[in-house]
Amino acid sequence: MSFDLILFGGTGDLAWRKIMPALFQAFRHGSLPSDGRIVGVARDDLSDDQYRSLIKSRFDQVELDKRPSEEEFSRFSALLGFLRMDLSNPADYARLAAKLQQRRADVVVMYVATAPSLFTVVCEQIGASGLNGPQTRVVLEKPLGHDLASNRAINETVRSVLTEKQIFRIDHYLGKPAVQNLFALRFGNSLFEPLWRREHIANIQITIAEELGVEKRGAFYDSTGALRDMVQNHALQLLCAMGMEPPINSHADAIRDEKLKVLRSLKPWTPETLSQHVIRGQYGGGSINGEALPAYRDEKGVNPESTTETFVALRTEISNWRWAGVPFYIRTGKRLANRDAYIEVNFRPTPHAIFKLPLTNCNVANRLVINLQPKDGLELHLLAQNANQRHGRGTPTLAPVQLDLDFDKRFGAERVGAYERLLLDVIDGRLNLFVRSDEQEEAWRWVEPILDAWSNDATGPRPYASGTWGPSASSAMIARDNYCWSEEG
Ligand code: BG6
Repeated sequence: MSFDLILFGGTGDLAWRKIMPALFQAFRHGSLPSDGRIVGVARDDLSDDQYRSLIKSRFDQVELDKRPSEEEFSRFSALLGFLRMDLSNPADYARLAAKLQQRRADVVVMYVATAPSLFTVVCEQIGASGLNGPQTRVVLEKPLGHDLASNRAINETVRSVLTEKQIFRIDHYLGKPAVQNLFALRFGNSLFEPLWRREHIANIQITIAEELGVEKRGAFYDSTGALRDMVQNHALQLLCAMGMEPPINSHADAIRDEKLKVLRSLKPWTPETLSQHVIRGQYGGGSINGEALPAYRDEKGVNPESTTETFVALRTEISNWRWAGVPFYIRTGKRLANRDAYIEVNFRPTPHAIFKLPLTNCNVANRLVINLQPKDGLELHLLAQNANQRHGRGTPTLAPVQLDLDFDKRFGAERVGAYERLLLDVIDGRLNLFVRSDEQEEAWRWVEPILDAWSNDATGPRPYASGTWGPSASSAMIARDNYCWSEEG
């Protein structure tokens, strides 16, 4: 199979940080179809060779084990080319069309890794210049809009020139091996399914904690915030994967139909739940691993009086028969104590106790922890009798033990990273791990009341020190249900 991958934003951050390294890994693993061309597109005036040198120099900044050797790069770079384009100029699309005509590849991938403001322009031009034939697939990066109306406007334009099957909306969390394992755990095994419901599960907690601050994206982040950047997409996709019904088959629409139902079943917000169940925070100065760090408001590109949130914790419920009354908690933020992403399923206690249990509300007997990163695996926490202990006369006390599955160890050598997986899926035309427009719109519909409530609330986000787990109000929120956030750190 032959493919042409046209990378709009070919000299941008995303191109060299994520997309090129992922394409190179696919090339190194032998999974990238060999008859391929990768054409970087930008306004810069570069020859093919200059573009190759630029990409080569950028590879010096990626992780060591993902960098190509000289010999590998010279083979990989044979695929690379460059096309100078002004993305609003129709004549430039005619030049692109001529380039594509040279060989009429089986698949043409248009990867739009530009500023979001250009998405609609690029898609309109793709349509106007007749580049939207059935062999074309368009990849759109988040953020797709900043609220429901702008998201709809983008989706409408894109759908006016392409069919839904040609549109690949990336949520890179879905490409993470750990998230695919979550689908495998739920729908490839029968063990947990009978327990996966309100009768057995007390609560579910989704944590995506980052140590990093806003890095070089201060200006972008300041107009975005954690709710739009992480909750509307990544966290809600994880919640869907946890809460959805088993799909009827593994086809993209079967999976996406079930995720959509979860989003539609999320409990609507009321003024009361908005004020009690949603906490926003903003990092102040502090230190992580001994390094002194600036406050968010002192970051480059950030308004010194910014009220943008860098932390969100919230509680919601899925209103259906399986989940009614079970709290789902989400917490995500920048400059937290650790880089750690995991989902914790807390099971209900035994109905009657014959043992002494070393338990509190914060330390339940049975927990399933799905580690997403940096660890990738599963921990099943149980209680056991330590036979070495003398029992004495009283009621025996049980000790916590855990089963620990490390997927990095088990599958290490063959692991395929998120962007690599997603790029290969685009080339193969597999939509399973991409987001459909109705899912995206439903997620925006659900977060919008939070955005509205915040814009009418002058108190702003609560401060927290860098290197902590966010504002204390986040722990207070969950404590009102008599639960605690899973172990911190
Ligand atoms: C991106 C956000 O979608 O995800 C970033 O825009 C965030 O702000 C990143 O840092 C986190 O991704 P990962 O894969 O490092 O957890």
